[in-house]
Amino acid sequence: MSAHVSNTVEPVVKAVIPAAGLGTRFLPATKATPKEMLPLVDKPAIQYVVEEAASAGLSDVLLITGRNKRALEDHFDRAHELEALLAAKGDHQRLSLVHESSSLATVHYARQGDPLGLGHAVLCAQAHVADNPFAVLLGDDLIDPRDPLLSRMVAVRQRYGGSVIALTEVPEDRMHLYGCAVTTPLADEDDVLRVNSLVEKPAPGTAPSRYALIGRYVLDPAVFEVLRATPPGRGGEIQLTDALQALAVGGAGGPVHGVVFTGRRYDTGDRSDYLRATVRLACEREDLGPDFRRWLRNFVATEL
Ligand code: UTP
Repeated sequence: MSAHVSNTVEPVVKAVIPAAGLGTRFLPATKATPKEMLPLVDKPAIQYVVEEAASAGLSDVLLITGRNKRALEDHFDRAHELEALLAAKGDHQRLSLVHESSSLATVHYARQGDPLGLGHAVLCAQAHVADNPFAVLLGDDLIDPRDPLLSRMVAVRQRYGGSVIALTEVPEDRMHLYGCAVTTPLADEDDVLRVNSLVEKPAPGTAPSRYALIGRYVLDPAVFEVLRATPPGRGGEIQLTDALQALAVGGAGGPVHGVVFTGRRYDTGDRSDYLRATVRLACEREDLGPDFRRWLRNFVATEL
């Protein structure tokens, strides 16, 4: 059983959002635009993720960007010309929408020169994060704000120290698409497991469990040294899962615990999930929802 270290761990105040991947599943849309800028209804995916960090109390956000970083930086910056134009028109509603994205959090940027993998992207955060524990939120993984996950993960880190990952149960035939965790239950927690080992995208039929990693992590800064020593793994990329495996089996930066998430999430880097997320969010919107739902019902009834 893990040590109880609640009074000795530093608070988590920084969030790192890797957004430097190539987004090949979304080509050609992602040829000149980061996939994290693709909108869900009228807000880019990355803004939902920054909002999630801010609402978990992490208002210092570091975006890891790659080529095409310009759109990301502009989105979280002031847009003086546009703001002046909307102000002159008296369009205060849209003006506040434009303001919102630049006032959510203090957003910093670090560049990942080559997309050498998620582990490498996280390593690019070292100078900013230094010796503090930090959260990692994948910019293309959307967690419904009604099902808070990150604040629970931060609380688990406060209790057990080490590092915390997010897990969800997926069907056996989809496990090869995810990192996979082998776990042991904890006596006094329903939604927290001790993680014993991890494997990145196991070959079909070989997954040692049905617990898949999803895109939220709370990491001990010792992970940086481990990442430095992590050789390229699956796909020739430096895999964060491989570094977490070293932490899970007793390395500095452990133990590793997993929070089991049963709420709503969307992988917006996957085209089908992106469409599902868009439809669901549109249906739930107060302004668009009633009309859109009526159209959707009719579409399903008459054209499917
Ligand atoms: P993905 O595994 O979805 O990779 O990355 P990808 O390259 O972005 O997308 P596909 O598979 O080619 O369509 C998960 C997250 O890690 C970031 C991505 O931006 C995404 O948010 N990432 C991945 C980096 O920041 N750098 C990398 O080198 C790889």
